[in-house]
Amino acid sequence: MSASDSGRVAVVTGGASGIGLATARRLNEDGHTVVIIDRSEQAHEVAAELSLTRPTKAFVGDLGSAADIERLTAEVSATFGGADILVNNAGIHPKRPDGSHYPIPEISLEQWNLVMAINVTAPFLLSQWAMEYMKERKWGRIVNLSSRAGRMYSDVSGAQYAASKAAIIGFTRNLAGECGPYNVTANTVAPGRIKTPLSDVSGLGSSQNLHEVFASKVPLRRVGNASELGSVISFLTSEDASFVTGAVIDVNGGIFG
Ligand SMILES: NC(=O)c1ccc[n+]([C@@H]2O[C@H](COP(=O)([O-])OP(=O)(O)OC[C@H]3O[C@@H](n4cnc5c(N)ncnc54)[C@H](O)[C@@H]3O)[C@@H](O)[C@H]2O)c1
Repeated sequence: MSASDSGRVAVVTGGASGIGLATARRLNEDGHTVVIIDRSEQAHEVAAELSLTRPTKAFVGDLGSAADIERLTAEVSATFGGADILVNNAGIHPKRPDGSHYPIPEISLEQWNLVMAINVTAPFLLSQWAMEYMKERKWGRIVNLSSRAGRMYSDVSGAQYAASKAAIIGFTRNLAGECGPYNVTANTVAPGRIKTPLSDVSGLGSSQNLHEVFASKVPLRRVGNASELGSVISFLTSEDASFVTGAVIDVNGGIFG
C-alpha cells in the first residue's frame, strides 16, 4: 500500500454487520476515516470500536427511503465534505420462514419494490451524490455489491434478489464509463456464499446446514468469510487498483455453475 492510500474518507453502507463490518474494519486498518451508514443502531458500537484506532462515524437511517438517503448524504457532506471511497454494500435477501427463497408467484409487488429500493436504488442515489465530489477532486473509488445470483442462475436466490444483483452490474458498468475520464473507478464485487447473518438460515427452521451443502459444490470446498470480501474491496479502493474499472470480481471459491 502506498502512502497516498491512507487518509481518505470511506463510506460503507451496511457496515454494522457481515461483509460491510469486515470492510469497515479493513478500510480502518488501511488508514481511512470510515463512515458507516446502516439502519441498525449497532453501527454506533462498531464506530466506537473502530474509533479506538482512528476517527470513525456512524449515521443511522433506512436506505430504502429516498428521504433518509437525502438526510444521510447531507449529514456526511456537512461533516466530511463528501466521500473519496463509497462501498454500496447494504442489501437484503428476503426468505420464506423456512429459509427457502420465494418462488416468483409468491413475490409481492411490495417485496419486489423493497428489494429494488435497497439493493439498486440506494446505490444509484449514493453514487449520484458521491461522484460529483470525486469528479471534482479527480480521484474516487466506488465498489458495489452484486452476488453470484446476479451472474448466473442460483436455485437458492429468488428472482427479486437475482434481478437486483444483475441490475447493479449494469449500473456499475455505466458508472465506470461516465466516471472514468475523472479518474474515478467503479467496480462490482460478486460474492458467492459468505458466512454472515444474511446467509444464515439456521434459525429459520431449515433442517439442513445449507453452508455445508453448498460448500460441497465449491471447488475450494468451503463457504467464504466476510474478511475475504474486505480484502478484495480494500484492493479495489486502493491505488494499486488504479487501472481496474467496470470490472466484476467474483469472490466465490471457484463456483461458476
Ligand atoms: N452473505 C452472502 O452470502 C452474500 C452473497 C452474495 C452477496 N451478498 C451481498 O453482500 C452484501 C452484504 O451482505 P451481508 O451478508 O454482509 O448481509 P448482512 O445482513 O450481514 O448485513 C447487511 C447490513 O446491511 C444493513 N441494511 C440492510 N438493509 C438496510 C437498509 N434499508 N438501510 C440501511 N442499512 C441496511 C443491515 O442492517 C446490515 O447491517 C449485500 O448486498 C448482499 O446482498 C452477500
